[in-house]
Amino acid sequence: MFKRMRTTTPEKVPAGDQAQPAPEAPQAPQMQMPTAENAARKDRLARMSAPAAPRASESDMKRRQRLLDLKVELHQRLLETLNLAAIDKVSEQELRREIAGIAREELSGGDLVLSGPEFERLCGELLDEVIGLGPLEPLLRDPTITDILVNTHRQCFIERKGKLEETQVQFKDERHLMRVIDKIVSAVGRRVDESQPWVDARLADGSRVNAIVPPCAVDGALLSIRKFSKMPFTVDKLIDGKAFSEEMALYLHACVRTRLNVLVSGGTGSGKTTTLNALSSFIGNEERIVTIEDTAELQLQQTHIGRMESRPANVEGKGAVTPRDLLKNALRMRPDRIIVGEVRGEEVIDMLQAMNTGHDGSMTTLHANSPRDALSRIENMFGMSGIDLPLKALRTNIASAVQLIVQVSRMSDGVRRMTSISEVVGMEGDIITMQEIFKFERHGVDANGKIRGRYTATGIRSQFADRFKQWGYELPATLFRPEQ
Ligand SMILES: Nc1ncnc2c1ncn2[C@@H]1O[C@H](COP(=O)(O)OP(=O)(O)OP(=O)(O)O)[C@@H](O)[C@H]1O
Ligand SMILES: [Mg+2]
Repeated sequence: MFKRMRTTTPEKVPAGDQAQPAPEAPQAPQMQMPTAENAARKDRLARMSAPAAPRASESDMKRRQRLLDLKVELHQRLLETLNLAAIDKVSEQELRREIAGIAREELSGGDLVLSGPEFERLCGELLDEVIGLGPLEPLLRDPTITDILVNTHRQCFIERKGKLEETQVQFKDERHLMRVIDKIVSAVGRRVDESQPWVDARLADGSRVNAIVPPCAVDGALLSIRKFSKMPFTVDKLIDGKAFSEEMALYLHACVRTRLNVLVSGGTGSGKTTTLNALSSFIGNEERIVTIEDTAELQLQQTHIGRMESRPANVEGKGAVTPRDLLKNALRMRPDRIIVGEVRGEEVIDMLQAMNTGHDGSMTTLHANSPRDALSRIENMFGMSGIDLPLKALRTNIASAVQLIVQVSRMSDGVRRMTSISEVVGMEGDIITMQEIFKFERHGVDANGKIRGRYTATGIRSQFADRFKQWGYELPATLFRPEQ
């Protein structure tokens, strides 16, 4: 359970900024902007016109290339010399010693002289090639990295603290990158080639992998890894990181406990799964939870959990198990709660049905940019499934199934925030009505590009207030009062 409520939790906002409108998109300045904002803007403009950081010198590049060539040669020799079948039985230290011996031998005949640390690094990289995923290994080991994005063998980006950075990591050539991709996908019994140019897979540590290769990847193979977080974000940690406020957490706790159906909406990589995982922590330990995912990412802490994962078709195009199949199966498993990692397609039909027919308290995520957009996405997914339902009937169905929409967003400063919590109220004519209970109010950007703002209630009383009370979750009226 999260920490006790503080009386207020606004982020510090300088006086005078409070009454400013808070548009998400930057607006053209109409009047004199606050000085901090002016400074930040100047700084940004200066950075935009600043020359690019100097590239490595030619001799550095040549040396790096020679080191890469040497590594490939050595790797080839290692593959010939080492008994690969017995590698699992050899300790890492022994393997490292053996690799160092072979490397020393190879170097002794040539004119390339390596310093002590360079030699150590070379041996480490060779070890990574032999037993791991080569150049990706240091990135996989670094706990501060959350995403690894390889764009052909020449370029690799990472995400750290919500920001993308380019790394020095390179593969020798496309074959090298393809070998690493093959190693990943063959470990989970899949393959990727011209006839099946994309694949989803999972690393042994649970990290989610997607690879797409030519001809669909135009310039060379593309590999995206969402690293599995060994320490999942708890509600406390998310509050500390300012992903949402304690007031919002208290409200969400009551919503989950009183079995409202919740939809977490957000863009790609905005923190939907993380939020779903955190919300799931509010579920009581006595409930039976069934989870359905494409790649198992959720890390629920309860004891009574049935986890299911969908599966793509095999090489002959057979054996696919869709999220829809699993959802239908889940209904026969006597679940108290059904949690679907993400709805993307026709499984939305069964999800709505489950939410409407006694499996309340179900939760899922969906890719959309606003709560309103999330509702349209459901309509579109329904439309694509081929079921011809009059629009009003469909919307009535959606409005009675989905009770709460939590919107998350990765903002321009790299911070993921819960930008809105909205209740679905019902229908007015043909339109689904909603009311926003909490929101992130944006005030501006500070000198470091960090977004200034605060979480606040909108002042609208929750339609579930009586329900909360009946279930024994009486929330203080002050919770719904806007921050002054
Ligand atoms: N509030 C947060 N603070 C810091 N890091 C976060 C936060 N929320 C999520 N992350 C990190 O951001 C990355 C993306 O999060 P997550 O997987 O939850 O996003 P998603 O919206 O489900 O992505 P996708 O669209 O790819 O499924 C993860 O590495 C996660 O650990
Ligand atoms: Mg996700």
